[in-house]
Amino acid sequence: VLIDGIGLLVTNDPAMGAGPLGEIRDAAVAIDGDRIAWVGPASAAPEGVDGDRLDAAGGCVLPGFVDPHTHLVFAGDRSAEFAARLAGRAYDAGGIRATVAATRAADMGTLLDNAKRLAGEALKGGTTTLEVKSGYGLDVPTERRSLEVAAALGEAPVLPRVSPTFLGAHVVPPEFEGRSDDYIALVCGEMLDACTPLAEWCDVFCERGAFDPDQSRTVLVAGHSRGLGVRVHANQLAHGPGAQLAAELAAVSADHLTHLTEPDIEALASAGVVATLLPTAELCTREPPGPARRLLEAGATVALGTDCNPGTSYTTSMPFVIALACHLLRMTPAEALAAATSGGAAALGDATGGRLVPGSPADAVLLDAPSYVHLAYRPGVNLVSSVVLRGERVVQVA
Ligand code: NIG
Ligand code: FE
Repeated sequence: VLIDGIGLLVTNDPAMGAGPLGEIRDAAVAIDGDRIAWVGPASAAPEGVDGDRLDAAGGCVLPGFVDPHTHLVFAGDRSAEFAARLAGRAYDAGGIRATVAATRAADMGTLLDNAKRLAGEALKGGTTTLEVKSGYGLDVPTERRSLEVAAALGEAPVLPRVSPTFLGAHVVPPEFEGRSDDYIALVCGEMLDACTPLAEWCDVFCERGAFDPDQSRTVLVAGHSRGLGVRVHANQLAHGPGAQLAAELAAVSADHLTHLTEPDIEALASAGVVATLLPTAELCTREPPGPARRLLEAGATVALGTDCNPGTSYTTSMPFVIALACHLLRMTPAEALAAATSGGAAALGDATGGRLVPGSPADAVLLDAPSYVHLAYRPGVNLVSSVVLRGERVVQVA
């Protein structure tokens, strides 16, 4: 496959082109199988490519978006709770329990259909890799079933790649009310036994109303000792110890980070923890915008994700997240684009992903716009005209 007619190509590799995004004007991309074979100026494109041609019609071509934070496996709807919040009720983590009840009652087919619908929506928005968490089961069979759904999603032919995360420590389920340490013992024992074979990551919601830092550390250390990578829901609803815990454990990613002090920022940056910011969650819970500028100035790697979940951020749209990152978090379009691609890959432990360079996965987004700047310039407009996944065009908007 040869993608030509590219007005502006973002490689995300400064060695390949101009600026930090390695931009190439009037470019072409050659794909061999599911990998990028060549990128460069169209005038130097390899001769004799006998496969399909995909005409970008002068538009901008980007690496596929990597969304490193979603809660796609759930059942039910919380629009009534959401409307009550818009009318002034405060968000608290307790709403999660409504989704837990619905998820426990749902069979595998129902959960998989819902997750497929959302993953398909994400793909149409240009997402080619998704992290997917469990965390609405909170008992051994339903946490296991949630990760089976994530695995089935990852095997579906025309859906984004999936990176699965065990979030058994999301909140304390009702049957353990007042006995959170007993629940932590279940998570670290039988639940991890059942879930580890299906997960790459272990996450915990370290927040007042969820788990304290000692409980959070216990879960993350148990997950890590079984070979899972570490990520943390930290400092979402108030300042708390989660960010420092992420730094102490050298987590791959700390997520949310809405409420950070200078020492938190220093600790995350110097521990090399990717700061995954979720501006749609801040928008929908009326929290202040996260400290993206201070994190970038401190030298942290920043990623952007949707946090897609039925409570605080029911969106799959990375283009919308990029627009909010520019408008609310004051990131530049180039910073936001990097955070939504190579930043997301870094948050999933892939230091070279989210790029369009020879050898990288052939996952790309074609925009019906001359530049990625339009993702912020035209907020809320669907500019994704085609998506290429594993070397094949899987989405085409007529
Ligand atoms: O990322 N922070 C914890 N979990 C979700 C919210 C889950 C819910 O309200 O259902 C989040 O915002
Ligand atoms: Fe989340």
